[in-house]
Amino acid sequence: MEILIQPTALDAARLASLIIADRLRQKPDLVLGCATGRTMERIYGELVRLSGEGLDFSKCRTFNLDEYVGLPSDDPCSYHVYMRQHLFDQVNIQLPNTHLPNGIAPDLKAEAQSYEDKIIQVGGIDLQLLGIGETGHIGFNEPLSALMSRTRDKALAPLTLQQNAQFFGGAQHVPKRALTMGVGTILEAKEILMVVTGEAKADILAKATEGPITAMISATALQLHKNCKVIVDEAAAIYLKGKDYYRWIFENEPEWQMYQNKS
Ligand code: F6R
Repeated sequence: MEILIQPTALDAARLASLIIADRLRQKPDLVLGCATGRTMERIYGELVRLSGEGLDFSKCRTFNLDEYVGLPSDDPCSYHVYMRQHLFDQVNIQLPNTHLPNGIAPDLKAEAQSYEDKIIQVGGIDLQLLGIGETGHIGFNEPLSALMSRTRDKALAPLTLQQNAQFFGGAQHVPKRALTMGVGTILEAKEILMVVTGEAKADILAKATEGPITAMISATALQLHKNCKVIVDEAAAIYLKGKDYYRWIFENEPEWQMYQNKS
């Protein structure tokens, strides 16, 4: 795992978008794993800006992490609509190349299996984008999700209902379940980019990256991944014990020097 500390949330989003753009240029039919939420909005905003400068999404394939159970794809609170608003309708991606779990599938188990099968059919996810929830979830893998779990429907934790309350006009209106890729599904991505910003995430970020691996905090499983980068802003980094070392790496490793002036 590499932790890359950036001055602000916007700098973190810029760096993430530049890495995604590089991967897309290297592999135009990149299979990109997408997340949703507030943190991702800035990243998609930057990708839209880069698309205006010529970044080509025409062959890109995407798989989202999750969707609320019970929300149809045209519900304004669904992640289907979120993705269209923030990315798909603003870049030259082909909608048939984009995939999200169907939250209103009559058989959720069959839907979960078919989602896993589709990921395998395209050769797996090349680059998985992640945020982290205050419970330490990645996707909607709430505490005690098995570290080898696969796509399935999962009950949301009370803290997650609170975290997402503003989008639904109160925690009581947030759907109680979601179809989410499992921790094991996420760990099979060839490369992982988690972006964490803001002081509210500082405590869970320190636990997720520097604490012991535990199913109580799904994001700790990322410590097992061979190619996982965690991009954070200074506000989220406040409790990181190794932050001076991480800063030194970003400033001195050749891989990151080419991003110094761009981000
Ligand atoms: C949603 C998802 C979640 C969010 C996380 C952070 O697709 O995967 O794990 O990334 O809840 O959300 P924000 O960025 O709104 O704090």
